[in-house]
Amino acid sequence: MPLVCSRGKISWTSPSNIALVKYWGKKGIQVPANPSLSMTLNRSVTALQLEYEEMPESNGIRLDFYFEGEKNLLFEEKIRKYLEGLPDTWSWLRRLHLVVRSSNTFPHSAGIASSASSMSALALCLMSLRQEAFGLKQEETAFYREASDLARQASGSAARSVFGGFTIWGALQDIPGTDDRFAIPLPGEVHPTFRNLKDAILLVSSAKKSVSSRAGHELMNGHPFAESRYRMASRNVAGLLTAITEGDTDTFIRITEQEALTLHGLMMSSHEPFLLLHPNSIILMEKIRQFRQDTGHPVCFTIDAGPNIHLLYPENISAPVREWINAELNLYLENGRWIDDGMGSGPEKLNE
Ligand code: PMV
Repeated sequence: MPLVCSRGKISWTSPSNIALVKYWGKKGIQVPANPSLSMTLNRSVTALQLEYEEMPESNGIRLDFYFEGEKNLLFEEKIRKYLEGLPDTWSWLRRLHLVVRSSNTFPHSAGIASSASSMSALALCLMSLRQEAFGLKQEETAFYREASDLARQASGSAARSVFGGFTIWGALQDIPGTDDRFAIPLPGEVHPTFRNLKDAILLVSSAKKSVSSRAGHELMNGHPFAESRYRMASRNVAGLLTAITEGDTDTFIRITEQEALTLHGLMMSSHEPFLLLHPNSIILMEKIRQFRQDTGHPVCFTIDAGPNIHLLYPENISAPVREWINAELNLYLENGRWIDDGMGSGPEKLNE
């Protein structure tokens, strides 16, 4: 099919997300071993610009990749491989020269994973590029589903960043519309208690992780607890969905913290056990539980595959929580740093 537009620029911003029920274990190209449920963030965002120009067809993908204004060969190679591995329906990309410019709002050295935000931004740019280059129109739901599917093939958790609010990714028998290939926005109404949930990302250490999440997923193959873990995750997605729609804070906190600790428990009990927590991660978790007990404020924690702690709390207690972080938790943070984030409404297309 001939291109109707032979050159142009497309830009999207796309946020990171934090899983409350964790995706840990996969088959093939990011087919999740269990469903997951996440919250899309607001401030931790990648801005990505894709510039394209038609050229004579080549055997491979012609790509230049700039990260924060500088050519980055490592990311370039990773993205070239991803693009070359896409299904044949995307082979027309070999008729273009692509220049990608990517930057993050969150500090590069903070130990915050950027693959969810960057790969979802890239997937959305590819979807817009196809529309623009071929003059296609696509219905919105189909557009975002396909973007989520494309993002998944680059990085599993990126599938969930395509939507704002709470998101579910992975097939669940009892929840219609769920799918292993793409994420969907949480079915049902979010109870007011959980709208505008805040996430203070407490930065404990920016040291490079000793084990990558790719290796961690692999260690779930043959993990002694794998099967019961996958069943537990399905139950927890269903339980959290009910808690979020009914406004059940106790269940929300119980499942969220159980999931965080289970993720790290799985790492510690794998065939090659490993530990990503820092002593300060443990102190912070204990302090969060203590604060909840002492004040009655519904604060809780979740953790990604790293030492940083995500402190979740409702927006209406922002003032006392901020005061407490700065007075008491600061001491346990690397250079006193934390990111004042919260629930976001999802990616945005920028006008060039
Ligand atoms: O998307 P990946 O391959 O980086 O894996 C993400 C794994 C966790 O962040 C630990 C959990 C999750 O569901 O995001």
